[in-house]
Amino acid sequence: MRAARCEVHGDPDKIVIREVPDPVAGPGEVLVGIEAASVNYPDVLIAADRYQVTVPTPFTAGSEFAGKVLAVGEGVENFTAGDAVMGSAFGGAFAEQIAVPASALYPVPDGLDMVHAAAFNVTYRTAYHSLTTFGEVKAGDWVVVLGAAGGVGTACIDVATRLGAKVIAAVSTPERAEACRELGAVETIVYDNEDLKARIKEITGKGADVVVDPVGGAYSEQAFRAIAWGGRFVVVGFAQGDIPRIPLNLVLLKGAIVRGFEIRTLGTHLPEAVEKGRIEIERLVANGMKPYVSEIHPLEAAPLALTRVAGRQTTGKIVIDTTA
Ligand SMILES: NC(=O)c1ccc[n+]([C@@H]2O[C@H](COP(=O)([O-])OP(=O)(O)OC[C@H]3O[C@@H](n4cnc5c(N)ncnc54)[C@H](OP(=O)(O)O)[C@@H]3O)[C@@H](O)[C@H]2O)c1
Repeated sequence: MRAARCEVHGDPDKIVIREVPDPVAGPGEVLVGIEAASVNYPDVLIAADRYQVTVPTPFTAGSEFAGKVLAVGEGVENFTAGDAVMGSAFGGAFAEQIAVPASALYPVPDGLDMVHAAAFNVTYRTAYHSLTTFGEVKAGDWVVVLGAAGGVGTACIDVATRLGAKVIAAVSTPERAEACRELGAVETIVYDNEDLKARIKEITGKGADVVVDPVGGAYSEQAFRAIAWGGRFVVVGFAQGDIPRIPLNLVLLKGAIVRGFEIRTLGTHLPEAVEKGRIEIERLVANGMKPYVSEIHPLEAAPLALTRVAGRQTTGKIVIDTTA
């Protein structure tokens, strides 16, 4: 089969398309014929060996996919050949087939085609739990989303809006701000041109109830300084590269809650929240919730797709059509 291979750690343009042996489903595993895969920012970090977990080379890039079950390994009872599934793994998604533990798969909910299913799980589960389980968002709350035009950001706009919150989308360019408005943000801030803290205070009056931060760097402290008393600040990632150090006196003065969110370990620590979230997310999908997919590329263009995400050139989700 064809696969996008990372043979040395580094920039995404080092990734090459190779013919590799088809995978086989071992005990407890499911073999999936991938129809679509999506790019997540951690794919860039994993390729560069800058992620929390090192994936040794050579490996197949890509961490999220959707497709049909081709075969199941010994002991797998909850999936059968032909089932439509979506899933995630530390690598292997930018390929024609993948073998993964059955626990890494979810049935594709009614309402999502393969392209949108491939782009759904990581960002929407991250958005949902960042906002609800960790951010305790309520209808009417002011929610500031940093990096709002990205994959996690656009999912946060969608989920927060559907939960009745008012989203302030913070982004780097007016074009990205316009895209966020079309997705439901009621206000936008172009943080490369405007004073983020002053604008959040001006829009909200009392400050933000919730901040979701997948960006880090200097934007984090500016947003934190504009949080309301008792506000929740959810740390999701550091796409900007620098890990901010926020003075604890600000946390004291604002009676704020700072919480870190990590989807990778959520099921281990909060299995009940994951199950409750699964039901609620399915309900939202049944009501029309789906990711914003702005580009679809063939497998050969996987290095280009990753380069565009790394270079801040994309909005929403980028999908790789592994069948093209
Ligand atoms: N904790 C978790 O469980 C979890 C789950 C998923 C993702 N994440 C993390 O969340 C972050 C966002 O992921 P994503 O998939 O949404 O990525 P994405 O689609 O690439 O969006 C990231 C956004 O960050 C902004 N940004 C600011 N400085 C940047 C820089 N120097 N390079 C790249 N982007 C920059 C960009 O928006 P502007 O240009 O508008 O600023 C971009 O739209 C990543 O750090 C990822 O690792 C964490």
